[in-house]
Amino acid sequence: MIQVGINGYGTIGKRVADAVAKQPDMEVLGVAKTRPNFEASGAIEKGFDLYAAIEERKPRFEEAGIDIAGDVEELVEASDIIVDACPSGIGADNAEMYQEYETPALLQGGEDADVVDSSFNARANYDTVEGDDLVRVVSCNTTGLSRLIAPLREEYGVEKVRATLVRRGGDPAQTDRGPINDILPNPVTLPSHHGPDVNTIFPDLAIDTLGLKVPATLMHMHSINVTLESEADAEEVRDLLDQQDRTFVIPEWLGLDGAGAIKELAQDAGRPRADIWENCIWGESITVEDNDLYLFQAIHQESDVVPENIDAIRAVLGTESQEASIETTNEAMGLDGSLAPTRQAE
Ligand SMILES: NC(=O)c1ccc[n+]([C@@H]2O[C@H](COP(=O)([O-])OP(=O)(O)OC[C@H]3O[C@@H](n4cnc5c(N)ncnc54)[C@H](OP(=O)(O)O)[C@@H]3O)[C@@H](O)[C@H]2O)c1
Repeated sequence: MIQVGINGYGTIGKRVADAVAKQPDMEVLGVAKTRPNFEASGAIEKGFDLYAAIEERKPRFEEAGIDIAGDVEELVEASDIIVDACPSGIGADNAEMYQEYETPALLQGGEDADVVDSSFNARANYDTVEGDDLVRVVSCNTTGLSRLIAPLREEYGVEKVRATLVRRGGDPAQTDRGPINDILPNPVTLPSHHGPDVNTIFPDLAIDTLGLKVPATLMHMHSINVTLESEADAEEVRDLLDQQDRTFVIPEWLGLDGAGAIKELAQDAGRPRADIWENCIWGESITVEDNDLYLFQAIHQESDVVPENIDAIRAVLGTESQEASIETTNEAMGLDGSLAPTRQAE
């Protein structure tokens, strides 16, 4: 069993921990936090050993009656691999500690690409990261774009991608984020950082991205235009995207008119935390005019990177092929097409 340590147990870290615990070939050795709170007690209830990320703050855990298994350095030393899901920038600070203990580590999309050896997306570049010490699982938006672009490049070739990203202001629990009542070009300059970030996965891709922020917490929404290198038909593109492992092409009859309805479906389907690990692409939006493909997709920022972290663990350690890893991850997590129920026979 691969022993996985998780440093940073917040939005992404706790989801990755749950996903690791479900895999047949890995287990959670422990999780590290800086303070006792509901997530610390939740980790203990799930049976995860809790490590102190900051030594001086250990007494706070004792005062709260929460048992600590040790310091984060002990977790790093004992782990086969660390998933660092600390807030942006802290992962880069932690890199030295991972190197000191010679433990490979996955950082998250909030870290700069130049901090790591490589950037990762399971569909696009699984085979390129084996043996690397520091690998960055790209951000939620870059993951969503990479999953879409990879099959289009393989099938048709891509001349240029133009993507407008309407981004949620913050996650549901981020009370300090905004805007509350506004629509912000963000960043106001072009291109937004997302295009160059996609280039860490596809270095030679021509891509321009524009970003906005809106008062929403549920999901991001992408408005996409891809100029293809060869002729395509909308129905064929729809079938191609439907066949991918982590894309959900929304059929019209489901009546999902926005992110709220998709989240409701995820809750009805019994998804943990109403997570949506797949890109949600509106089937009706898939349109081809000459060689230009257009579509809308929604991305659940809190969870689409979770299966990617699981695959990155196997890719870095070289324990499974791309196909086998994606299949194992999906099966263990229940990423099995359950959001796309079949229409009842009339
Ligand atoms: N949320 C998203 O939408 C999203 C999507 C994709 C990628 N990402 C990326 O994933 C990373 C984590 O984001 P997140 O949204 O999960 O952040 P988050 O919800 O703030 O969770 C990070 C957790 O790390 C803990 N922490 C803070 N300092 C630490 C330290 N020095 N050592 C160990 N733990 C520490 C904090 O908990 P305590 O202080 O309570 O321990 C915090 O809850 C970032 O790089 C982010 O850009 C986020």
